[in-house]
Amino acid sequence: MGKLDGRVVIVTGAARGQGEQEARLFVAEGARVLLGDVLDEQGEALAKELGDAARYVHLDVGREADWGAAVEAAKDAFGGVDGLVNNAGVLRFNELVGTPLEEYLAVVQVNQVGTFLGMRTVAPELAAAGGGTIVNTASYVALTGMALVTSYAATKAAVVGMTRVAALELAPQGVRVNAMCPGAIDTAMTNPAQLDPGVDPAQASAAVDELFRKLVPMGRIGRPEEVARLALFLSSDDSSYITGQPFVVDGGWLAGVAGF
Ligand SMILES: NC(=O)c1ccc[n+]([C@@H]2O[C@H](COP(=O)([O-])OP(=O)(O)OC[C@H]3O[C@@H](n4cnc5c(N)ncnc54)[C@H](O)[C@@H]3O)[C@@H](O)[C@H]2O)c1
Repeated sequence: MGKLDGRVVIVTGAARGQGEQEARLFVAEGARVLLGDVLDEQGEALAKELGDAARYVHLDVGREADWGAAVEAAKDAFGGVDGLVNNAGVLRFNELVGTPLEEYLAVVQVNQVGTFLGMRTVAPELAAAGGGTIVNTASYVALTGMALVTSYAATKAAVVGMTRVAALELAPQGVRVNAMCPGAIDTAMTNPAQLDPGVDPAQASAAVDELFRKLVPMGRIGRPEEVARLALFLSSDDSSYITGQPFVVDGGWLAGVAGF
């Protein structure tokens, strides 16, 4: 018995990183998964590897029309949809006073508008299915400050805010909405060297490990599989009485200053 037997879940940004691990784990737990991303080649290859329980669609989360098409694709392939993981996201580093408006708005378009459109499009389908789950991906910078990420922090705080409102509005329809707040996770977002074919993956991970060994109380960067397990908990009946909450997964980083 899988924890998601019979469920149909849309995962955005599923071609790599945390979204990829969420898609892999959800299929392993019995779900059928519609993978959406803008990295078509990688997304198609992953869906092929996962087999009949997975389909890939091009889904730019900031484009309204793509969302309608993705829901139709889920219905065509799997007969409906009763779960959503809003995972797609982008990060830009810049000082507040040096952030061009276009850059700020581009981050808003994916992280904030994408999450809004995803919830708005999919929630009625979940309600029609008799209930379901939405898991939004925020960040620890939704809950604490970090220099150089004004645009990103703004969008992730918005994700937590929208999660609470959506949870209140959708609870009567049996739809639970929660948010994940990962700390530093070893994906291309935190560790862009992973995308460089000339860099040995173990070497790329070792470089960030050195940094986070000092910063994080648990002494290491997180793994995307560890965030996927939180997404599974929040998408399954194991969290049946939980809605409207942000969940931190960060190796203790936000607990406070270690001091030694
Ligand atoms: N890596 C971290 O340390 C960390 C920490 C906190 C939160 N997060 C959040 O976790 C989520 C996953 O990030 P990740 O760490 O796996 O990074 P990643 O860069 O490996 O993955 C992000 C995915 O989103 C996709 N994407 C980007 N723009 C898109 C769009 N417009 N439409 C659809 N897909 C799009 C990318 O193609 C990629 O597959 C993001 O929301 C990110 O903000 C990451």
